[in-house]
Amino acid sequence: MKTLLAFSGSSRNGSLNTLLLEQAEALAGSLGATVATVDLRELNLPLYDGDLEAANGLPSAVLDLKEAMKEADGFLIASPEYNSFPTPLLINALDWASRSGHGDEVPLSAFTGKTAGLMSASPGALGGLRSLWALRTLLQNIGVVVAPTLAAVGGANAELFADEHFLTSSNGRRLQKTVEETLSLIRP
Ligand SMILES: Cc1cc2nc3c(=O)[nH]c(=O)nc-3n(C[C@H](O)[C@H](O)[C@H](O)COP(=O)(O)O)c2cc1C
Repeated sequence: MKTLLAFSGSSRNGSLNTLLLEQAEALAGSLGATVATVDLRELNLPLYDGDLEAANGLPSAVLDLKEAMKEADGFLIASPEYNSFPTPLLINALDWASRSGHGDEVPLSAFTGKTAGLMSASPGALGGLRSLWALRTLLQNIGVVVAPTLAAVGGANAELFADEHFLTSSNGRRLQKTVEETLSLIRP
């Protein structure tokens, strides 16, 4: 059984990206994967601070996040685009998770060899695609195998995702490709 961990870079109630992520989670489930979800807002992580880390080590919420990431074969990640970039909420969580919790922990063990499917939704025309290019670079540089199809949904609104025909639309079909690639890239 393949397992995925899903998280959204938006903490906003009614987030378009969280709605998109839910579609991806359902798709992964229908393809036989087990999907767990982490709510990044609930982790309530401090902004990464080297002095804080030196004084106290990793916050327990970071240890929990890393454990959940290690247990998964891959990730489904949705993020809004903020000025062409993934959100600080997401980047901060990834930065914390990239830190070793103790001396003998293999560096980047929460990332190395994992696969990731990336998606973004925006009312704008490009659907956040530019932020996905940045996120792809970040993740690849820390050992993640990123699915080639980036699912950026432009002109997004809540009705789009509520539409029962979403999955057969061009956006839905692209999302399906992203999810399928994320699963098929997992090493047996
Ligand atoms: C600080 C900020 C910067 C933004 N920059 C962009 C941008 O570069 N491109 C874009 O398409 N939308 C941009 N937006 C609009 C977001 O795509 C929009 O608010 C979206 O609904 C946020 O995602 P969410 O619904 O998942 O919270 C920006 C929004 C904020 C708050």
